[in-house]
Amino acid sequence: MNVLLIGSGGRENAMANALAKSPLLTRLYVAPGNPGTTRVAENVDLDAGDHGAVLRFCKDMGIALVVVGPEQPLIGGIVDALTRAGVLAFGPTQAAAQLEGSKGFTKDLCREYGIPTADYERFSDKAKALAYVRAKGAPIVVKADGLAAGKGVVVATTLDEAERAVEAMFAGLFGQSGAEVVIEEFLEGEEASFFAICDGERAVAFATAQDHKRVGDGDTGPNTGGMGAYSPASVVTPEIERHVMAQIIEPTMRAMREKGAPFKGVLYAGLMLTAQGPKLIEYNNRFGDPEAQVILPRLEDDLLAIMLAAARGSLDGTQPRFCEQVALTVVLAAKGYPGTPLTGSEIKGLAGAEAMADVIVTHAGTRLEGARLLAAGGRVLNVTALAGTVAQAQAKAYAAVDAIDWPGGFCRRDIGWRELARERR
Ligand SMILES: Nc1ncnc2c1ncn2[C@@H]1O[C@H](COP(=O)(O)OP(=O)(O)O)[C@@H](O)[C@H]1O
Ligand SMILES: [Mg+2]
Repeated sequence: MNVLLIGSGGRENAMANALAKSPLLTRLYVAPGNPGTTRVAENVDLDAGDHGAVLRFCKDMGIALVVVGPEQPLIGGIVDALTRAGVLAFGPTQAAAQLEGSKGFTKDLCREYGIPTADYERFSDKAKALAYVRAKGAPIVVKADGLAAGKGVVVATTLDEAERAVEAMFAGLFGQSGAEVVIEEFLEGEEASFFAICDGERAVAFATAQDHKRVGDGDTGPNTGGMGAYSPASVVTPEIERHVMAQIIEPTMRAMREKGAPFKGVLYAGLMLTAQGPKLIEYNNRFGDPEAQVILPRLEDDLLAIMLAAARGSLDGTQPRFCEQVALTVVLAAKGYPGTPLTGSEIKGLAGAEAMADVIVTHAGTRLEGARLLAAGGRVLNVTALAGTVAQAQAKAYAAVDAIDWPGGFCRRDIGWRELARERR
């Protein structure tokens, strides 16, 4: 069958690699893709926001399944448009995508269904929001309701910081996304990412990962889209996994069905493992980037078969199998990131890194100019290594990073530090 994958990041490169292995696949198209996806698929110049163009492409090319990588097209209703036209799609409808598109929606759902999460209130009035933070005091967390590219959350350690965050959001820092804010209790604990695959009715636990959001070593400096990750996350024990499925994922599936918006696709729970048990920080409705780069290379089952079953509403409940190895990925970013990245610098030596055993290089913000590979974004490349231990995976990943000749880029040097410390103990 022919498949169309929407997206252009490192996540979509990892998804394309996994889909390309499927015996069910005839042709894989990626829209718009990147220089990394051309190695396993055909890139097509399609704008995911133009539903008419996507539908025409699907009809012309006989696409049997559309897989949506990023959140924006989902929240833009691409799955609804495809479904109306009779094209099978993996991903939630616009109504179900509110789980990521509106933090307030998800918090209210948690309250209604008793799903453990931080205590909160929603505000569309600045004076009331300010009165609330003053009454609660710091530390406290201020969140823009809508999508804000990972920049809409302020974990305020002082009251002054919290007040400034409220002022900035209501002054339009995030446009419509900040017209409403969620203010919530500060949760203490370790974070982990939990992924389930859902078919509207049923959810199966898929995988776990942990990422590194800060730009600098030792988790310092500003937040980014993610500077590295590893999978599995050993803090999510089988017992915690069962708890998360029973207390968080399954009630969410039921809630969405009862609201008339059954959830299909990847349900990605950001968890805080607190002393009172796991609590939901937020939902995303797609794979994480760079989490996909460490989860998918470990998958032993057929990703396309799993996505097809989910899209058709016929997951049989068997848990997908993953290899025992640890995967660790290091993000290479252009200097200046997460501020304004310096683009256009040349990257050499990729072949040397890719020739190493159990190393996978995926592309994010790159472009080709003739035969020259140039940086074309903030996060540019992901170097993933698989090994029996975290220490070995880390050593392999950095050996491959060091084989890449790119003076215009940088990376963190301590990806996996927390898991490495656990492994040493
Ligand atoms: N209630 C909370 N307590 C402590 N930290 C939080 C809380 N909510 C969010 N955070 C921190 O802020 C980060 C971003 O918040 P999140 O809700 O995941 O928003 P987004 O990913 O959309 O920016 C989280 O990964 C976590 O580190
Ligand atoms: Mg998050």
